[in-house]
Amino acid sequence: MSRDKSMGTFHLLLLVVLMGFFAVNGDEQKNFYIVYMGDHPGIAEAAVETHLDVLSTLKGSLLAAKESIVHSYKKSFSAFAAKLTADEAETLSCMDGVVSVFPNRYHKLHTTKSWDFIGFPQTTRRNLKMESNMVVGLLDTGITPESDSFKDDGLGPPPRKWKGTCGHFANFSGCNNKIIGARYFKLDGNPDPEDILSPVDVDGHGTHTSSTLAGRAIEGASLYGLAKGTARGAVPSARIAMYKVCWSSSGCSDMDLLAAFDAAIEDGVDVISISIGGYSPDYLSDSIAIGSFHAMKRGIITAASAGNNGPSLSSVTNHAPWILTVAASSINRGFRSKVMLGNGKTFSGLGVSTFEPKQSSYPLVSGADVYRNNTVKSSSRFCMEDTLDPIKVKDKLVYCELESWGADSVVKDIGGVGVILESEMYLDAAQIFMAPGTMVNATIGDAISKYIHSTRSPSAVIYKTQEVNISAPLVASFSSRGPNPGSKHILKPDIAAPGVNILASYTPLQSLTGLKGDTRHSKFILMSGTSMACPHIGGVAAYVKSFHPNWSPAAVKSAIMTSATPMNPKINNDAEFSYGAGQVNPVQAVNPGLVYDIDSMSYIQFLCREGYNGSSLGVFVGSKSVNCSALPPALGDDALNYPTMQLSMKSGQKPTTGVFRRRVTNVGPPISIYNATINSPNGVEITVRPMTLSFSRTSQKRSFTVVVKAKPITNAQMLSGSLIWRSSRHTVRCPIVMYNELSLD
Ligand SMILES: *[C@@H]1O[C@H](CO)[C@@H](O)[C@H](O)[C@H]1NC(C)=O
Ligand SMILES: *[C@@H]1O[C@H](CO)[C@@H](O)[C@H](O)[C@H]1NC(C)=O
Ligand SMILES: *[C@@H]1O[C@H](CO)[C@@H](O)[C@H](O)[C@H]1NC(C)=O
Ligand SMILES: *[C@@H]1O[C@H](CO)[C@@H](O)[C@H](O)[C@H]1NC(C)=O
Ligand SMILES: *[C@@H]1O[C@H](CO)[C@@H](O)[C@H](O)[C@H]1NC(C)=O
Ligand SMILES: *[C@@H]1O[C@H](CO)[C@@H](O)[C@H](O)[C@H]1NC(C)=O
Ligand SMILES: *[C@@H]1O[C@H](CO)[C@@H](O)[C@H](O)[C@H]1NC(C)=O
Repeated sequence: MSRDKSMGTFHLLLLVVLMGFFAVNGDEQKNFYIVYMGDHPGIAEAAVETHLDVLSTLKGSLLAAKESIVHSYKKSFSAFAAKLTADEAETLSCMDGVVSVFPNRYHKLHTTKSWDFIGFPQTTRRNLKMESNMVVGLLDTGITPESDSFKDDGLGPPPRKWKGTCGHFANFSGCNNKIIGARYFKLDGNPDPEDILSPVDVDGHGTHTSSTLAGRAIEGASLYGLAKGTARGAVPSARIAMYKVCWSSSGCSDMDLLAAFDAAIEDGVDVISISIGGYSPDYLSDSIAIGSFHAMKRGIITAASAGNNGPSLSSVTNHAPWILTVAASSINRGFRSKVMLGNGKTFSGLGVSTFEPKQSSYPLVSGADVYRNNTVKSSSRFCMEDTLDPIKVKDKLVYCELESWGADSVVKDIGGVGVILESEMYLDAAQIFMAPGTMVNATIGDAISKYIHSTRSPSAVIYKTQEVNISAPLVASFSSRGPNPGSKHILKPDIAAPGVNILASYTPLQSLTGLKGDTRHSKFILMSGTSMACPHIGGVAAYVKSFHPNWSPAAVKSAIMTSATPMNPKINNDAEFSYGAGQVNPVQAVNPGLVYDIDSMSYIQFLCREGYNGSSLGVFVGSKSVNCSALPPALGDDALNYPTMQLSMKSGQKPTTGVFRRRVTNVGPPISIYNATINSPNGVEITVRPMTLSFSRTSQKRSFTVVVKAKPITNAQMLSGSLIWRSSRHTVRCPIVMYNELSLD
């Protein structure tokens, strides 16, 4: 597995390895399956007995059942994981009491300044007593208990509602009043040679996300003097519960993810943050969608990363409507290294090089010219292992094209000095190099290549990286885009938060890049990815809940979305498909005025309308099936009281009309009057009835209908409009997106 850190998430996140863990037993291959048996088990022991009964019936004996079962989920829902053949899985799915059966898959993982940048300074008003009652649960790679971010000075014992545990484990010094829960899940039973069977974080990802979400403030944090400032989480007084489900070489499995949700819900967390790639447009076989649905039913909000597969359209994951899906935006801090060639020309390269040059210049060669032998002649330009001639590289800088990360390590390992990498990708996040290194675009790359071949003794020098001001916020190119591949009427992602070059705490168990030959360690590191954006939103959700502990997950989500700062569609090509409602504004989110609330039955009605088969929806309600036709019909074209609106159109046809029915709840001053302001793009007519909403008390609800009439969209992918409800004190903004369904095929 690649371990370069700043870009690590590009490798770690998202790619779902579509295979179970194989165990060959006799002739038939057995895989892990998750057998879902419904909602509330009542008594845990009874649930386990039921699981064994069902398996015994299938297998013919209790002994065989016990050999096959891997885990019983019995706290927050009833399910079990077992090793089965495909035929056995099929048979089980038809048995009484079994709601669904799906195969276990393996998923991949997908600061200082960022809080100030989004207008959330250290001095922000806090409800400290309530904040310290907040427990945030992270499903990640583990945590570093020794980190300064997790000191517990001044924190009392865990809140009384807390039922979680924290044991003593290998290489894990234990919990305190800051980290109040730490567990790990590794149900496939396969030891991971690169990891430790303990909640300790060997990778660094989980320490980074936890400290971004709820780390204490630490002054003078930096990475080798870069990005200097006070590192802190959104809710420095909140408590952390770590559920380690991601392992260095095997990734994060559905069985473990579900076990962590089961535990976290029962333990009493308030918010779940999950920076892991979901899969499947189908919510019913997506462990993150299922786990977060159960969490939502118990009042727990789940924030999840949108994925790092942008800028391709329709690449967003974790897109179930009950999840708060987070895109990554940039902050106004960039990292540049000056490169000077022997002819005096200078260029600006991107990335983090912590090395001061020891000489005024170094001989420079092109990887394409210093191949080891003719077999690798055509590939040496990528500077990968065993392609370069050590004699021709010794004591030199090498110019390479980027294919995969690690060229710096390869060059350093055979006696070279460092690398200049040419790439047109990843130019918005700063890669950390293990030797002097930087990244340039194709224009500069061509100029360097020409220079190398224009002189007898080409040379260059790469200076230590400096911080620069850059224009922001922009959505990162890697951040996954809509439209939603699961539900064409629901806009995703929901919200944007900083996720580029975020400084936060790191593990001492890993070097900065994890690459061969890197011996540098740091308490803090820069990382980029929607993985880094997600805990920003998890933290803001906890912050909002610390003021409004009784709000539903949908109300918290609505507050965060309708108060977001609009982003600029002129400089963000994919507009709402890249940033959702816009850039998070934590201070405003506490006081949204109105919320679009949704209860769990509304989601079931929504799923019925989306065409989900009533018998399969049992996964969510906990019974064999849902009779969709017995439920009151969901209203409007999108069938959900969502805080954004999306009209999906068939291109090249007649005008399309969409009707959206919404109901808002007054959470502001009892007596409030809101007027509607509509922004319609050319060719679209948006009307709202009524145009004024009058409230006479808190919690009062008011309904309205939005009708969108759009002419066929011809020369654009999508169009953006909005509906804003304004009172004398509040602005409640709802983006409205129109797009051509077919143009995206
Ligand atoms: C973990 O603990 C064991 C036993 O104390 C020790 O031998 C090992 O070096 C530790 N591993 C790391 C990565 O610190
Ligand atoms: C060329 O180098 C590669 C990598 O060291 C090696 O595997 C291969 O056998 C070499 N080919 C020849 C023709 O020497
Ligand atoms: C490469 O970067 C230079 C300097 O920032 C810029 O002028 C040039 O347009 C860029 N070229 C490409 C292809 O982006
Ligand atoms: C970056 O911009 C801020 C605000 O405009 C300014 O205060 C600061 O000095 C700038 N920093 C650099 C390194 O130019
Ligand atoms: C639901 O799906 C199952 C299995 O695919 C099928 O047997 C059943 O007829 C479907 N039910 C409805 C109401 O469509
Ligand atoms: C589902 O509900 C409808 C309407 O109440 C009813 O007519 C129908 O018989 C029900 N179907 C089942 C399978 O219960
Ligand atoms: C809303 O509209 C009414 C009627 O036009 C007007 O009197 C009132 O001032 C408006 N309120 C706000 C907050 O704009």
